[in-house]
Amino acid sequence: MRIVLVGPPGAGKGTQAAFLAKNLSIPHISTGDLFRANISRQTELGKLAKSYMDAGNLVPDEVTIAMAKDRMEQPDALGGFLLDGFPRNVSQAEALDEMLKTEGLKLDAVLDLEVPDEEVVKRIAGRRICRNDSSHVYHVSYKAPAQEGLCDECGGELYQRDDDAEDTVRKRLEVYHTQTEPIIDYYKGQDLVVTISALGKVDEVTQRAMEALKREGDE
Ligand code: AP5
Repeated sequence: MRIVLVGPPGAGKGTQAAFLAKNLSIPHISTGDLFRANISRQTELGKLAKSYMDAGNLVPDEVTIAMAKDRMEQPDALGGFLLDGFPRNVSQAEALDEMLKTEGLKLDAVLDLEVPDEEVVKRIAGRRICRNDSSHVYHVSYKAPAQEGLCDECGGELYQRDDDAEDTVRKRLEVYHTQTEPIIDYYKGQDLVVTISALGKVDEVTQRAMEALKREGDE
């Protein structure tokens, strides 16, 4: 399957993507994680991306689209993928359509995770991430690690993202509503959107997501 996951910052895209990608046996491709990997390796792309990310803005389309395309062309993604955080505006959605069309491929579904802004702020304020593996995500109240500050899975140090300060989160939400939400209408025009509530326990949301994707696949 080729799936796009869309939702505000802190909706739980990364959390759900880890389970969904495993269940569906497709790679989880997160442009945010790709940028963060470049930042920790101190590449030129990482330096450029950091200045935009720290301000809560989108990284320019040209570099983002090239990076996403390169990742989608890797052998593990040829049979399908779960995109998390890409596309993030209508130009990126058009570029993705163009890429897929060239290969004679198309998306199967766009899973839209709905969460009110105030819940987003709470989720992000408490988020902690493992330095060794950014797919190991915790929350100080909702998903606390057994030992404070350490990852349950690998013992790595847990840290708070630079762009998770409350002011930056509010800016990211504004960017989401103005630039990213319009892709939902864009994909509604292709009859690809399935919307679910991302409130409730993580496993309840995963179950809702799997059922919605199954219904979409059966149609
Ligand atoms: P990115 O890394 O994609 O961040 P985001 O979209 O803002 O989303 P987050 O990672 O903050 O949240 P999430 O929805 O994955 O939630 P999570 O599962 O962690 O992008 C960062 C930046 O990179 C952007 O601002 C931009 O600058 C740049 N960028 C990336 N892609 C780009 C693109 N295509 N174009 C241009 N720029 C781009 O969950 C959040 C917290 O909530 C966690 O602590 C988790 O444990 C907890 N949680 C999850 N689910 C639940 C639940 N059901 N109940 C309670 N708590 C929960």
